Amino acid sequence: MDAQQFIPNPYIYSVEKGKVSWQSPSNIALVKYWGKKQDQIPTNPSISFTLNDCKTMTSLTFTKKENDGNFSFEVYLDGEKKDSFKPKIETFFKRVESYLPFLKDYHFKIETHNTFPHSSGIASSASGMSALALCLLSVEQQLIDKAVRSVAPVSTKASGVETSGKKASFLARLGSGSACRSIEGSLVEWGTHPEIEGSTDLFGVKYPYEVHEVFQNYQDTILLVDVGEKKVSSTVGHNLMHGHSYAESRFKQAGENLSALKDVFKRGDLDRFVEIVESEALTLHAMMMTSLPYFILIKPNTLQIIEKIWAFRKSTGSKACFTLDAGANVHLLYPETEKDKVLQFVQGELVEHCKDGKYICDSVGLGAQPIIENEE
Ligand code: DP6
Repeated sequence: MDAQQFIPNPYIYSVEKGKVSWQSPSNIALVKYWGKKQDQIPTNPSISFTLNDCKTMTSLTFTKKENDGNFSFEVYLDGEKKDSFKPKIETFFKRVESYLPFLKDYHFKIETHNTFPHSSGIASSASGMSALALCLLSVEQQLIDKAVRSVAPVSTKASGVETSGKKASFLARLGSGSACRSIEGSLVEWGTHPEIEGSTDLFGVKYPYEVHEVFQNYQDTILLVDVGEKKVSSTVGHNLMHGHSYAESRFKQAGENLSALKDVFKRGDLDRFVEIVESEALTLHAMMMTSLPYFILIKPNTLQIIEKIWAFRKSTGSKACFTLDAGANVHLLYPETEKDKVLQFVQGELVEHCKDGKYICDSVGLGAQPIIENEE
């Protein structure tokens, strides 16, 4: 499998202007991606639950322009111009240009909106970059087949759409690694792993094996501890894994944890699930604390929440567990059957550790979807 397959044949149609829109969710990793090589290639395989409600809605208006060798685009978040997003998008455009050779032929207006507050500390790069990748792919589909109007669902196998799902994930990865796991649901694996058929470093694949019903509609309550901006970008963090003393054993461990999860998913073994997921979260932060320069993203409230989750599990037999992203917020994962009991626990004991008492209730979802605009 190589990237060449995503270079399109010369386009058949010319389209003057148009608008396409997609919504794409965030995801929460169970085995973490932390460390990457050239061209957004991960140093270890990862797997995540796709979320349902935390998502980005993006509209892309495109207007033909003369190809003067430059990218031309403007970005809006919630209707306000966001020039601070431009460098990341420019980098993305450069990385994907050979796979989307029409990029310099159009001016793009990118309008984006997140369902979660921008300042919530929830990374919007996975949902944002996957939504943008899907919009660009919809433009390309119109250049290949004029009849296509951005409505092709990514998960069906009809006429080349399966390939476009792969390409969407491939492009999203070049925007932000974890974004490649947001195209589909509900469990997506990314990174070559010998025991996962079809796995590749190039794009995320829907987890191909049996998943026990206990994982259906799994819940994720996100406890917002730190709502400020991230102080260390993921890219800087990933790069600190180069030459990190524990890097090799960490990468090996991620592969082993993924192997172990296969059996967990099949049998619905929640005790082992809890152990692997919490260990992954703590290892991710241990890598940050032991890199050079070192840094600490968890806050006193993060630790208080973790301790309360452990005590809650011990006293009630609950299978709720935590995981962490590259930040202080805590994702509390639990089966749907425990929803009432866990939410009572959250309200009674955990909200006091959340910034302004804020938390977000989400659950696993099915992936990105086109937004059908009314034809004018
Ligand atoms: C800690 O995907 O944000 O969330 O590829 O540099 O954009 P870039 O990094 P990003 O890294 C996310 C890392 C993580 C773990 C994970 O989602 O697997």
